[in-house]
Amino acid sequence: MRHFLKETDFRPDELEAVFALARDFKAQRGRAASSVLAGQTWAMLFSKSSTRTRVSFEVGIHELGGNPLFLNRNDLQLGRGESVEDTAKVLSRFVHGLIVRTYEHADIERLAAAATVPVINGLTDFLHPCQIYSDAFTAAERWSQGGGNLVQSLKGRKVAYLGDTSFNMANSWILGASQFGMKVSLAGPAGFEPGAEIKAQLKAEGRPAEYHFTTDPVEAVRGADIVYTDVWSSMGQEEEAAERLARMRPYTTTAKLFAAAKPDALFMHCLPAHPGEEVEQAVLDNPRSVIFDQAENRLHMQKAILAMVAKSAKR
Ligand code: CP
Ligand code: NVA
Repeated sequence: MRHFLKETDFRPDELEAVFALARDFKAQRGRAASSVLAGQTWAMLFSKSSTRTRVSFEVGIHELGGNPLFLNRNDLQLGRGESVEDTAKVLSRFVHGLIVRTYEHADIERLAAAATVPVINGLTDFLHPCQIYSDAFTAAERWSQGGGNLVQSLKGRKVAYLGDTSFNMANSWILGASQFGMKVSLAGPAGFEPGAEIKAQLKAEGRPAEYHFTTDPVEAVRGADIVYTDVWSSMGQEEEAAERLARMRPYTTTAKLFAAAKPDALFMHCLPAHPGEEVEQAVLDNPRSVIFDQAENRLHMQKAILAMVAKSAKR
C-alpha cells in the first residue's frame, strides 16, 4: 500500500509509466470507460475551498468506475475535535482511498500513517504534488511531440518561479524539479525565501539544494522554459494580503518580464489567478499561456496517480 503525499513518492523509474498513463487516459477520454476503481469508494476530505482539485478528482474517480465521496471537514466530527488518527482509521474501514486537502502537512502525514488505505495529497500549505505532476505533463506533451519520452523531455529545462517563493507551489517546484531533472530559479522579496521545511525535506531525501533564489525577477526569468506564478496570498493568509500585495508588486509577471524568458517559453499558473496582481491579463491571454491545459490535465494525471496507488492497495 502506498501514498502520494509528495513529488518524490513515485520512484524515478516509475515516472514515465505515470506520464504515459496520463497521456493514454487523455487520448481515450469519452471513448473507453475504465474499471480501475470498479466497486470502490474514494473519500475526499477537504478543509479548504477548491474548484479544480475537487471537480477533477470527482470526475476522474467516476471515469475510473469508482464512487467519489466529498467530505467537508466541518461536517465531520473531525471539525469538532475527533483526532486525525481516529478519523483515518474509521474512514479506512469504509472507503478504498482518501484524497486530502488541508493546512499543516504534518496532519496529512499523521493521517496517512494511521490509514490502512492509500492517501493522496490534494494540497497542503507545504506541497501540491498533483498540480506539479499535471504541470510537468502539460510541458512534456508539448516538448515530446512525435511520441518521444515524456519525462526525458523535461531534463535540463529551466522553470522561473515568481512571487511567493515560500509556500506550497514554490516548494513543490523545488521538489518536483529535483524529481524531474529540471532547474528552478525562484524570485521573490527578501523574507519570502524557500524556508526550513523544504530544506529539511531535501536533506532528508539526500537531495542537494539545487534551486536558485534571487530577489531579481529578470535574473530568474532569463533563459527560462517555463515562467510560473501563483497567488500572493494563499488560502489561510487572507489577513496578510495587504502587506503581501505591497511586498510582491515587483514580481508581477508582466508582458515585458515574460518576454525576457526564452522566445518559446510557456506561461503557467496553477489558478485561481488574480489578474493585475501576480500576473497581467495580457500574459494570461498570451498564446504561450497554457493555464487551461494545466487545469484540464489535472483530470488525466490524477487518473494516472489514482490507478498507480490503487494497484498497490490490498483490498
Ligand atoms: N489549482 C488548484 O488546485 O485549484 P483549486 O484550489 O481550485 O482546486
Ligand atoms: N498557493 C495557493 C494554491 C491554490 C491552488 C493556495 O494554497 O491557496
